Amino acid sequence: MKARIVSTGAYLPSKILTNLDLEQMVDTSDEWITSRTGIKERRIAHEEEFTSDMGLKAAQEALAQAKLPPEKIDLIIFATHTPDHFFPSTACMIQKELGAKNAAGFDIQAACSGYLYGLSVAKSFIESGAYKNILLVASEKLSSIIDYEDRNTCILFGDGASSAIISNEGAGLIIPHICLGSDGDQENLIKLPAGGCRKVASKESVDCREHFLRMEGREVFKHAVRRMEQAAIECLEHEGLTDADVSWLIAHQANIRIIDAIAKRFSIPADRVYKTVHKYGNTSSSSVGIALHELLLDGNVNEGDRLLLVAFGAGLTWGAALLEKNSNG
Ligand code: COA
Repeated sequence: MKARIVSTGAYLPSKILTNLDLEQMVDTSDEWITSRTGIKERRIAHEEEFTSDMGLKAAQEALAQAKLPPEKIDLIIFATHTPDHFFPSTACMIQKELGAKNAAGFDIQAACSGYLYGLSVAKSFIESGAYKNILLVASEKLSSIIDYEDRNTCILFGDGASSAIISNEGAGLIIPHICLGSDGDQENLIKLPAGGCRKVASKESVDCREHFLRMEGREVFKHAVRRMEQAAIECLEHEGLTDADVSWLIAHQANIRIIDAIAKRFSIPADRVYKTVHKYGNTSSSSVGIALHELLLDGNVNEGDRLLLVAFGAGLTWGAALLEKNSNG
């Protein structure tokens, strides 16, 4: 039995933060941001709009597309590192709103690799026979942990959510293989220093702005390209495939230069590399899911097409997933 993605969803907040807006906030320019990252604008959630709200909207879209009643969901996996609360889990919060009363639910945290980590967990549960229908949601309100006085980081990130229903039958995208990796030796490269039990929230931690994301951008860049390339090779080789067998590449939408560097290493033509980074920036765990959803909506994925998804994030974590379009169920 092969797990398959039978539907997808996405949600982006309506408020747009452009590079020109950022020019008014920090010492930067549209030219610098565009040339170094490819990002022109990103979406920012409303003050009263939270990770669970965005995830809920993405989930509702995937459920509607699959025509699946919420009671038929067996498990909710919610990938986020900007949860509404430490607990209860964001999965439980959307379970209530969806009325998915027969589902178990938990959150997973693999930073920007969260969608692929979640997909891998879903695939395993389906293929073990434990569950029939799993709702995967990846959602981030990154604007809640970004320091809008730090030009090194505030230009990169945006808010958004994506979702998928993974089932044991039906037409969709079969998931032949996923590989994951992590390297805790590099845990300091992207970090939220305070707010956990190691450094509890205090006046001092707030004064030091330690509740905002910190990142060594240049180092992260190098690891990102290397690790996503390595994961992609591992994934393709496992299936006896090469880059020539890939119809579409969807890489984590962090920076256009990272995406282009990976595409170049695999000789994948530019028009087969799907990008949303220019309009949404880096939406962390939700990024590959949003791109996958929009690629499918465009209608350019044909029977037998193979999609290669690669992601990378804090931890460090990374992963690659191979998907194959199969309309026959
Ligand atoms: N506007 C203008 N100048 C800026 C700036 C901004 N928004 N941000 C940084 N700079 C400056 C730096 O201060 C530095 O100045 P200095 O040389 O006087 O110290 C200069 O630009 C070059 O910085 P550098 O870090 O070398 O730039 P870069 O080409 O590596 O690009 C990133 C910076 C962050 C865009 C890039 O490293 C990157 O994308 N890294 C990966 C980040 C990422 O994807 N993180 C999430 C992974 S999940």
